[in-house]
Amino acid sequence: MHMFQPLPIELIECNPFTRFGQDWALLSAGSKTEANTMTISWGGMGVLWGKNVVFVFVRDSRYTKELIDEGGFFSLTFLEEQYRKALNFCGSHSGRTSDKMSSAGLSFDFRHSIPYVDEGSFVLLCEKLSATRLTQDSFLSPHIMEKFYADGDMHTMYVAEVIEALAR
Ligand SMILES: Cc1cc2nc3c(=O)[nH]c(=O)nc-3n(C[C@H](O)[C@H](O)[C@H](O)COP(=O)(O)O)c2cc1C
Repeated sequence: MHMFQPLPIELIECNPFTRFGQDWALLSAGSKTEANTMTISWGGMGVLWGKNVVFVFVRDSRYTKELIDEGGFFSLTFLEEQYRKALNFCGSHSGRTSDKMSSAGLSFDFRHSIPYVDEGSFVLLCEKLSATRLTQDSFLSPHIMEKFYADGDMHTMYVAEVIEALAR
């Protein structure tokens, strides 16, 4: 088990475009009895409703979505390049049917009962503020629906307050 230290949010130095778009993250949700993680590369961080927030987009079909919807919290774990294979694995296998954490060589830690991934280097612990399922009416360009949602597997956008950052 790795040692993580709380990191004051003002001290976080990160480029959200490369953090999400290139590094990717593991979005974890659930409890000590049932937790799951999935790879994400769409999302961001900023300020909304006077709070420091992240926003992530999770499709209907994801098992992780069920766990996000059941609870009030989730985490984002960012990992170093050496874990790229594990990130690819967690982005292409569902925890609904297999124990993908052990197959990927990863393990959960918990803080405030929120699961996060021990092998990470930077973690954001988040409390859900809103959940908005995108629908055809959400898009100003019909292109988006055709290109990304032809099968109807829509994204829900979760906005969540960053309640603590951890680093090691
Ligand atoms: C690089 C990468 C980025 C991904 N980004 C997202 C994302 O932002 N939102 C999403 O719903 N799925 C995304 N996925 C797909 C999920 O990680 C994948 O479907 C996963 O197997 C879901 O696992 P689960 O069923 O255990 O929740 C991504 C996959 C990869 C490889």
